[in-house]
Amino acid sequence: MKVLVAGGTGYIGSHICVELLQANHDVVVIDDFSNSKPEVLKYIKEITGKDVKFYEFNILDEKKTEEVFKENDLDAVIHCAAFKAVGESVEKPIEYYTNNLTTTLIVAKMMKKYHVNNIVFSSSATVYGDPEVVPLTEDCKLGETTNPYGASKAMMERILTDVQHACPEMSVTLLRYFNPIGAHESGLLGEDPKGIPNNLMPYIMKVAAGELPCLGVFGDDYDTPDGTGVRDYIHVVDLAKGHVLAIEKYNKPGLHICNLGTGRGYSVLELVHAFERVNGVKVKYEIKPRRAGDIATCYADPTRAKEELGWVATKGIDDMCRDTWNFAKTRMK
Ligand code: UFG
Repeated sequence: MKVLVAGGTGYIGSHICVELLQANHDVVVIDDFSNSKPEVLKYIKEITGKDVKFYEFNILDEKKTEEVFKENDLDAVIHCAAFKAVGESVEKPIEYYTNNLTTTLIVAKMMKKYHVNNIVFSSSATVYGDPEVVPLTEDCKLGETTNPYGASKAMMERILTDVQHACPEMSVTLLRYFNPIGAHESGLLGEDPKGIPNNLMPYIMKVAAGELPCLGVFGDDYDTPDGTGVRDYIHVVDLAKGHVLAIEKYNKPGLHICNLGTGRGYSVLELVHAFERVNGVKVKYEIKPRRAGDIATCYADPTRAKEELGWVATKGIDDMCRDTWNFAKTRMK
C-alpha cells in the first residue's frame, strides 16, 4: 500500500514509518518539524535502507495538503500529526484546538475528495477519562477529559466517527494508545522532547543522563500497591507494528476502535527501579504532591487487538528501559 503518515517524523510517526517500510509499504510523510528534527529522515533510511517521500509543511496549509493527495495515489492515511503536551494545551487552547481539529478536518476532506478510504488515527486512552473499572475495554464509557489536549483527541475521534457514518465506504480506525515509551533498538529514533519533559520516561532518561537533577514523583498516596500512579507502558515499536496491522486488517468499510496496550500496569516507582536495574544507573527522585488531572490507575484490556489484528505486545518493561537508555547514549555521543 501507499501510506501517508501525517506527522511521520515525530516520536511515534518515525517508528511507524520504519515498520511500514520494513513491511514493504510505500511511505509518504508530511511534517513541519514543529516537534521533531530533519535528521530523523536520515535515520529512517539508515535503519530500513529505504526513503520516504517527504513534504515539509503544516497540514493546516490546505492547498499544499491537496497537492500531496493529487501527486500520490494514496491507499491509506495514518494520522499522527498533532500537538500533544497536556500542560501547554491548558496555556494555549486556541492553538491546540486549531491545529489538532483543523488538520483532522483537512485530512478527512482530502480523503473524501480523492477517494482514499482507509485512515488510522492516533488516539489516546485519555478519552476514557478517570476509569470506573480497569482493565479498560473499548466498550468502556468515554469520560471527562481534563485538558484541551485530551478534549481535542476526543473531538478528533468524534469528527472521524461522523465522517465514517456519512461515508460508509470508509474504514476509520481509532487506535487508543496507552503509554508509549522506549525507542528503536538501533538507538537512532526515540523521544527527545525540547526543554523539561512532561512525561515520565523522558524525565527518567534525562535524570539518569545528568541533564536534570531529580525526578519528582507526583504523589505516593494513590490507591495503588506502592501509592504511586500505575500506567500501561507499551514499547513504541510494538505500537508502530500495531499500525501496520491496522491499515492491513481493518482495510474494510466500518468504524474500528482498538486499544494498544500490554494489559499490565506498572507504578512510577516500579518503572524507576526497573530503569536502574536494567541499565545499572541511578535515578534520583523525590516525592512531590499529586499533579492536577492525574488518575491513579490506567491499563488496557488488549483482547480486541489480539483477536482482530493478531497483535500482542512482544516487548516488556526491561526492553523499554534498555532501549530508552541506548537511545539516550547514542544521542549524547
Ligand atoms: N509522573 C511523575 N513524574 C513526572 C512525570 C510523570 O511522577 O515527572 C507520573 C504521573 O503522575 C503518572 C505517570 O508518571 O502517574 C505517567 O505520567 P506521564 O505524564 O508519562 O503519562 P500520563 O499517563 O499522565 O499521560 C498519558 C499520555 C498523555 C495523555 C494522558 C492522559 O502521555 O498523552 O496519558 O491521562 F494525555
